[in-house]
Amino acid sequence: MKRKLLFSGAAVVIIAAAILVLGACGQPAPTTPTPTPTPTPTTPAPATVALGGKLYDNWISAANVATPPGNSPLWATQTTNKRTGRDTWRCKECHGWDYLGKDGAYSKGSHLTSFTGVRSAATTKTIAELTAILKGSANSNHNFSTYLNDAQITALASFLKEGATIDEKQYIDYTTKKPKVADAAKGKGLYDSRCAACHGADGKTLNFGDAEEPEYVGTLALDNPWEFIHKVRFGQPGAPMPSAVEQNWSIQDILDILAHTQTLPGK
Ligand code: HEC
Ligand code: HEC
Repeated sequence: MKRKLLFSGAAVVIIAAAILVLGACGQPAPTTPTPTPTPTPTTPAPATVALGGKLYDNWISAANVATPPGNSPLWATQTTNKRTGRDTWRCKECHGWDYLGKDGAYSKGSHLTSFTGVRSAATTKTIAELTAILKGSANSNHNFSTYLNDAQITALASFLKEGATIDEKQYIDYTTKKPKVADAAKGKGLYDSRCAACHGADGKTLNFGDAEEPEYVGTLALDNPWEFIHKVRFGQPGAPMPSAVEQNWSIQDILDILAHTQTLPGK
């Protein structure tokens, strides 16, 4: 009891001393202006990256803007891809779902163009430099600011920087189109909890094709794993589909889900 009282007395003295010290600090200090911190480039928010990924997929639907007339002016600089109109404006049509352009999955087949990928630029350039490229700094026919606002262009550049640097050759066998390392059983659990509510346990609830030529999540998984990965990472333009970058799902989760969906019916 006595000790406690003594202690309290000591505490009072300490507090009083502290108040004195604080009081001294309260005196007007010699005026050194607080330096304004130099802005450090911040990592873009996942929602921004996801928006950019959907714009890369199809900016006309993701931004809900009118389709520009005719073909993209850059289209005439290649002859191998015979598509016309709307498709010729899509970033993915020229640069690929795997961001490797003519050196990736689009190195053969009807999608082949002579255009380079974006992965190398995404890896080496800053968001500001990538933004400038999207505004036509290197080629005036590559100016998307005529159609998209600043926030959308920034989202595209953020997606490139954060999302398009991935090395898909590390994850996907380009010959078999199968993930190199994946656990399909684990993928089934993830699919059932994250995807089945909309796509159905067998993947056939949503048909992206038509009655004649149905296209299910299983069809796409087998046919185009790069498109599958892109859409699962960033979401589907114009659809309320969750995006892995926003949900913080790992690439391995996506590869496991891919392995499972490749076992679902394609027809
Ligand atoms: C019609 C085809 C086409 C479309 C559509 C297109 N690009 Fe490009 N892009 C090109 C060509 C051609 C180049 C120049 C490549 C070169 O330097 O040889 C280029 C260059 C780039 C580069 C710089 C590559 C480098 O290595 O310097 C980036 C980044 C890029 N595009 C991103 C995009 C994005 C994002 C979109 C969608 C908004 C888009 N592009 C749409 C054809 C296209
Ligand atoms: C909230 C509902 C919802 C959830 C959950 C959902 N999706 Fe989707 N998904 C959609 C819709 C809607 C579409 C677009 C359908 C259309 O275009 O006809 C779509 C499209 C897709 C596509 C693109 C198909 C194409 O060819 O365009 C893929 C791939 C896909 N989903 C995979 C998945 C996977 C894998 C999961 C789980 C990780 C998932 N989705 C979760 C609603 C959902």
